[in-house]
Order: sequence, then structure tokens, then C-alpha cells
Amino acid sequence: MGFAQRRRRLLDAIDTDAFLTVNREGSDPASLYYLTGFSGEGALLLSEDEALLLTDSRYTEQAGREAPDLPMRELKGPYIDGVSEIASAKGLERITFSSARMSHENALKLGAAFNGEIVPKSDPVAGLRMVKEPGEIERIRKATTLTEAALTALLEEIRIGMTERDLVLRLEILMREMGAQRTAFELIIAAGENAALPHYQPADRAIAAGDLLLFDIGAKLDRYCSDMTRVVAVGRAPKGLESVYATVLAANRAGIAAVRAGQSGVAADAAARDVITTAGHGEHFGHGLGHGVGLEVHEGPGLSPRSTDTLAAGMTVTVEPGIYLPGTGGVRIEDLVAVTQDGCEVLTSFPKDELLVVG
Ligand code: GLY
Ligand code: MN
Ligand code: MN
Repeated sequence: MGFAQRRRRLLDAIDTDAFLTVNREGSDPASLYYLTGFSGEGALLLSEDEALLLTDSRYTEQAGREAPDLPMRELKGPYIDGVSEIASAKGLERITFSSARMSHENALKLGAAFNGEIVPKSDPVAGLRMVKEPGEIERIRKATTLTEAALTALLEEIRIGMTERDLVLRLEILMREMGAQRTAFELIIAAGENAALPHYQPADRAIAAGDLLLFDIGAKLDRYCSDMTRVVAVGRAPKGLESVYATVLAANRAGIAAVRAGQSGVAADAAARDVITTAGHGEHFGHGLGHGVGLEVHEGPGLSPRSTDTLAAGMTVTVEPGIYLPGTGGVRIEDLVAVTQDGCEVLTSFPKDELLVVG
């Protein structure tokens, strides 16, 4: 699907005469790109008569290259002032904007400066982005393959005494050497007791024999993200955590088996969570089972006890149960899957059946 078709679908999904997204200071880069192909800072004022790209002198050349078919206007002053002036001059009456992406302050300024009405909606472009086109799934698959190749190379290099930060740096270099734009998020490499923190920030902890090492990693390639987690043992498997690994693996498999079009995010989560609860670790699995992945590493739909989403074919979601034992460590196994009509295709192929021993 081309950018013009995506814009058509968006106009069909709203009931005002225009849609506005503003990407300033990282407020909405993914949706601006999704609708235009432009990856810089700017705004899109989309109405039936035109898709007007607004940017400033830092990005006009880039906008011309990335979105050559779109009319473009260079803004000289504050974005909200420029957008309001242009929208008023065009005679627009009602503009939908993504309330999930625009600051309250900017929404107030826009409402005050624009002659018409602004209508908050959360978040119409993210809603479209949840279901991926085949070409998007292909890009996510490539980002996943690259991440797996980088992890395979890193595991060969691991030696006792290296720190978490040594490994993060080396993994990012490997990803970039293999063609990644950058990492999809701040890589998480957690040794031993640090793996009990689901979103741990790697530090100077040196790895030692008997540690479990958790890798929650992803690359951004051709603008699309990957996201996977594997756990390995350094030198030898630590005592006591092998059964935790087996439980998380069973939960991961149960979650994957529950993913199919029409399934609720609540039910998919419950299929995995039940395995962990039955094993007596219910209180050690605090987060949801998974999330969508695409241009952003965290998108809809959500797979969790609080989800209001229903899975549809073409969605790409993670299945990432975990057990976290404060002071001891943690295990999470995260795969990325593409939802199909009667199941899912698992895009992550890195081995998980056994606890790998490295170093
Ligand atoms: N990498 C963060 C997450 O798995 O959600
Ligand atoms: Mn992850
Ligand atoms: Mn994830």
C-alpha cells in the first residue's frame, strides 16, 4: 500500500474535514513517516483537497527527496502558529488531531489560534498502523534476522569478566556493522540478579560463571523494529533457575498457541499467565504478555489482562512472559509473531528449547 492509500484510509476513519499530525521533538515521527515517507521534523495537514507537508529550513531539502509528490510549505516561526494560520486560510472547519501525540500546551495554543474547531482522537494513525501490510512484515522480519545474527556473533565473544556495558556496546557495533540504522530501543543486557528488573539499565556488573544473562534486544532496519529476549547461562547453568526457565518456556509456547485472528488480547495473555500462575509464580509476572511492534517498538495491540484489543491477521505482536525473582534473577523469553487467520507465524527463530551455556 502506498502512502496515498494510507492517507485515504485515514480520511475515511475520521469525521472531520482534516487531520493534523505534528512531529516536533519526537512527538510523532512514526505516523508522519507512515503517511508521507518523510522522516524529519514537520507536520502533515491532511484534507480532501491536499496532503500539505509543513516543515522548516532544516528539513526542506530532505522533504523534497523523501516525499517528492507532496506539496510542501516552509514554516518560518513556531509550528503551531504556522499550522493554525494555514488551516484558517484554507477555510477548514474541523480538524482531528492525535491527542496521544500532541502536548496539552500545543493543543490549547492550536485551539486558540485556529478559527475552527479541533477534535482530539487517540490515535487514528496508530489504529491503522496496528495491521501491517506484507511489505511491513517483511521489514520487521529482516530486522529480526539481523538481531539474531548479531546475538549469535556476540555469544561467540562472551568471556567471564566482561561487563554488561561491554556487551551492550559490542552488540550495538555488531548490529550496525550488519546494516542496522540503530538499535530499536536501549538494549537490555542483565546479568544474574539484575535480570529481576524487566527494564534494567546495563551497568558495570561483570559476568561470572553460574550467572544467567538476559538479552532483551532489537534493531531498527529500514525504519522497522525488532524485539526479542533470550536468556543464556554463563559457564554452567545456575541451580534453581532451570525450572523457572522451563516454566517461562511453557508459558511462551502457550501464549504463541493462543495467538490468532479474533482472539482477544486478554485471552492471549491469560493462556500464558495461567502456566506461570499454576507453577506458583503468578506474583512474579507483573507485566503484560506482549505488544505490537512496527515503526515503533511499542505499539498496539496490547496483550494483557487490561487489553481492550482484538487480534487481527497482519498484526505483529510480541509474546514475552517472564518470571522475576527480586535479589535472585529473572527469565523472560520473547518472540515476535505475525498474526494469521488461524494462528501465527513466529518471526523469531533463535533457539530457545534448551538453556544455552556460553563463555
Ligand atoms: N524491549 C522492551 C520490551 O520487550 O517490551
Ligand atoms: Mn523486548
Ligand atoms: Mn517487547
